[in-house]
Amino acid sequence: MHFADVLKATSHYLLSLPVDMACMTASYILRVLALTLGIAVHTANSAPPGFPASGNGLWYDKPGSNWVTELLPIGNGYIAAMVPGGTSQEVTQLNIESLWSGGPFSDPAYNGGNHQQSEQAAVHQSLLRVRQAIFQSPNGQTGDTGLLAVDAGAYGSYASAGNLITTMNVTGSVSNYFRWLDLDEAVARTSWTQGSQSISRESFCAHPTQSCTQRTFTTSRTTLPAITYAFCPLSLVTDGLPAPSVTCLDSSTLQLTGLVAAPGMAYEILAKVGTVDGSVICTPAAGTDSSKLNATITVINSTESWITWVGGTNFDLDAGDEAHSFSFKGPDPHSSLVQLLSAASKPASALFQAHLDDLKATFSSESFSLTLGQGPSRSDLAQATSDLIDAYQIAYPGTTSGGNLYLENLLFNYGRYLLWSSARGVLPANLQGKWANGYGNPWSADYHVNINLQMNYWPAESTGLDLTKSLFDYMEKNWAPRGAYTAQVLYNISRGWVVHNELNVFGHTGMKAGGPLWANYPEAAAWMMIHVWDHFDYTNDVAWWKSQGWPLLKGVAEFQLDKLIPDLRFNDSTLIVNPCNSPEQSPITEGCSHAMQLIWQLFNAVEKGFAASGDTDTAFLQEVRDKRARMDKGIHIGSWGQLQEWKVDLDSPTDTHRHLSHLIGVYPGYAVSGYTPSIQGPIAANGTKTRYTTQQVIDAATVSLIHRGNGTGPDADSGWEKVWRAAMWAQLDNEDEFYHELTYALYENFAANLFSVYDSSASIFQIDANFGFTGAVMNALIQASDVPTLSAPLTIKLLPALPKQWADGSIRGARVRGSISVDMQWAGGRLAKATLKVDKNARSRAVRVVYQGRQIASFSTSPGSTRSLRV
Ligand SMILES: *[C@@H]1O[C@H](CO)[C@@H](O)[C@H](O)[C@H]1NC(C)=O
Ligand SMILES: *[C@@H]1O[C@H](CO)[C@@H](O)[C@H](O)[C@H]1NC(C)=O
Ligand SMILES: *[C@@H]1O[C@H](CO)[C@@H](O)[C@H](O)[C@H]1NC(C)=O
Ligand SMILES: *[C@@H]1O[C@H](CO)[C@@H](O)[C@H](O)[C@H]1NC(C)=O
Ligand SMILES: *[C@@H]1O[C@H](CO)[C@@H](O)[C@H](O)[C@H]1NC(C)=O
Ligand SMILES: *[C@@H]1O[C@H](CO)[C@@H](O)[C@H](O)[C@H]1NC(C)=O
Ligand SMILES: *[C@@H]1O[C@H](CO)[C@@H](O)[C@H](O)[C@H]1NC(C)=O
Repeated sequence: MHFADVLKATSHYLLSLPVDMACMTASYILRVLALTLGIAVHTANSAPPGFPASGNGLWYDKPGSNWVTELLPIGNGYIAAMVPGGTSQEVTQLNIESLWSGGPFSDPAYNGGNHQQSEQAAVHQSLLRVRQAIFQSPNGQTGDTGLLAVDAGAYGSYASAGNLITTMNVTGSVSNYFRWLDLDEAVARTSWTQGSQSISRESFCAHPTQSCTQRTFTTSRTTLPAITYAFCPLSLVTDGLPAPSVTCLDSSTLQLTGLVAAPGMAYEILAKVGTVDGSVICTPAAGTDSSKLNATITVINSTESWITWVGGTNFDLDAGDEAHSFSFKGPDPHSSLVQLLSAASKPASALFQAHLDDLKATFSSESFSLTLGQGPSRSDLAQATSDLIDAYQIAYPGTTSGGNLYLENLLFNYGRYLLWSSARGVLPANLQGKWANGYGNPWSADYHVNINLQMNYWPAESTGLDLTKSLFDYMEKNWAPRGAYTAQVLYNISRGWVVHNELNVFGHTGMKAGGPLWANYPEAAAWMMIHVWDHFDYTNDVAWWKSQGWPLLKGVAEFQLDKLIPDLRFNDSTLIVNPCNSPEQSPITEGCSHAMQLIWQLFNAVEKGFAASGDTDTAFLQEVRDKRARMDKGIHIGSWGQLQEWKVDLDSPTDTHRHLSHLIGVYPGYAVSGYTPSIQGPIAANGTKTRYTTQQVIDAATVSLIHRGNGTGPDADSGWEKVWRAAMWAQLDNEDEFYHELTYALYENFAANLFSVYDSSASIFQIDANFGFTGAVMNALIQASDVPTLSAPLTIKLLPALPKQWADGSIRGARVRGSISVDMQWAGGRLAKATLKVDKNARSRAVRVVYQGRQIASFSTSPGSTRSLRV
């Protein structure tokens, strides 16, 4: 995505902030907090007491004040929170996963950014004119996008749900201050000494109860100062927005209800306060309207106090189809929240135990772990995470300096933590996971589907995280229904469905205006089908495949079948796409390599998955096979030895664009890295038939990758582009370039709280590189790339790009396609031992295991078997 775009998106929603003394913006409060806390400046030289012995956590000796770079994230997928680690006052920023402005809630005429039915003929004529212009132009391009795109309309934005403010009646200097995020227990903790008391606060979000809890306690066996809980709803500080109401639902429960906009989605938060020994008083609002806004709860005489909250909206993912008039509207959330809160009305310790039990079942190091080096050293643990980040240095190829194994290992684990904490709700992880503090957020904190949403899920299958359900549900329920309408009205295609690059939670399937390049991307779903196919290929979950995976794949393939047209420019008897552009890049042309490679992979997945699908539509399968045979495969070697980005040889050797679109077939695809001449050749682009070798194609991709630069250029300094480059270099078995890019990303694009930031100005959080970092590391350690046909053996490459700096290590529970999990140890830079376990429900397939370019084993997998390999 593009920086100019974010300014537009943000300014569209950021309204002026009038001063309201009663309830300030979180960032303002935090700034004041940092200035007035009077925390004794001390430089801690060891991790806090209670920090995980594994080293698996982030710690600091000052409270956080900058939301993007310092606050610490917790979440259960449904709701989320950012924790600054304040002392006498804690301002926890809150999110509810479906809280979005815009959509049909704001504009009854909103239709997903699509044309009207009555416009179909004119739109289609326009599309034909654009096609013709491209075929006939001397350079195969056009600047004309006709009527294709539609204004964004009520696209909306993911929005913050405001702040929870916890105030303790305590003054005086603070000492022994620490805050940390424990990744082994998924809890944010703060501890300090003030007055005569040692005070601790911890915050966690439990998935089983869909609730979050903040607990304050003292280890001094004394009574805590009075604690007051209040909400500072975001809309109170944004001009013109409806003020929510905060009332006492009962003597210990606050109820916040509001609308995200007027008109707009309704949301509600219920928060119940509990205590040990103390008394709880809810102070309602008396009289006037304005005093109604801020009922508060105070706890006195307690030795422990906690607040547990649940939140929801009247959004309904199941109401996004024609039968529900695409309303996405469900019931008022109140009664379901009352039920949730009732189930979560337990002592904080019981909620925490349930959280730990859930964590053990879904996320523990017993099922997956990576160790780089020998675990954390004393000096690693002696430095706050912010200091480790500050001291971090890039590793350059050919040198052994730079990098920090502990920090890299931690960031790897953090990627898994963030996905586990954000993807387990009803909706998938968005551009910011589920953490966003504005009313409007950069790029609406939406779903960008031309690398970003995909990268979010890189670590899912490979590190054994079973949390793709919300992703697939989202595609099925939010994209496919109205995507069928878009296929019809924009492309005159009456089967299957299509979406474009920028997606909200209201089925924004149309091509979003704002320049031809940003959203003009009808291959978004084709790329997502890699994830759908992979889920089946990793799990062999046939029931899921039949009910959800295959229908998704078929719908996308049907659309793409009908969109292919004969190439009337090269007249080479191939089928191509026209118009197309590489994501976010000029020109608008034909036969874009990215699109052609993806569609070829999509058709392969159809053929591979057909038998298991139970579908009897053999005519469809035959059509896929026929068109696949005739289509241009998107692999052309150009005039300077590069892999062409477009069918017309237009590449510039100085193009350092952030996207690596035409190299999609290197990683995460396989059309390039697994180039199979007998299937993908010959090329007949200019009248002469040429058959490339695999090596020629890989060499051309390498030339392109080198020329694309290291992920720094005009509007190009984001983390995702660097970790994508790292993953590609790993795929090309180049450990030096892999590690260079990985360390460069870490150096340039990760903040003190280890959030990935869009550029070195660190003003924008964008989560994709957090996930991409983890995915790229996995790709350096184990690869099992997909193959075009089921008859091709699966090649598992062990340690294909192990950096010298990672000489010793181990991994447990890594997963590869074929329903195989891998445990592996290495020492002195060499593989010591590997164990492959084949799931009981696996489909038997031929496997080759390769280490350092040499085949070390070859066998046919049998379900439930284990095989140990030594080199
Ligand atoms: C849409 O496609 C149908 C079937 O191919 C064709 O008959 C019709 O003319 C097309 N509509 C437009 C507006 O081009
Ligand atoms: C706050 O603390 C002060 C000083 O200890 C005390 O006088 C006051 O009563 C406390 N307020 C509450 C609400 O407990
Ligand atoms: C909130 O409560 C305080 C004290 O209870 C009161 O002074 C104030 O007017 C209330 N309303 C707002 C909008 O802050
Ligand atoms: C709180 O504790 C104080 C001191 O022990 C006592 O005087 C007061 O009555 C208690 N308040 C309540 C509401 O229990
Ligand atoms: C391709 O065929 C079209 C129509 O048959 C023709 O107009 C065009 O000149 C041909 N192009 C080339 C490069 O031969
Ligand atoms: C046609 O393509 C081949 C292989 O890419 C190349 O060697 C040859 O120069 C091309 N011919 C023309 C006329 O462009
Ligand atoms: C990245 O590439 C630019 C342009 O070639 C170069 O100036 C810079 O030194 C490189 N940085 C790193 C860390 O490789």
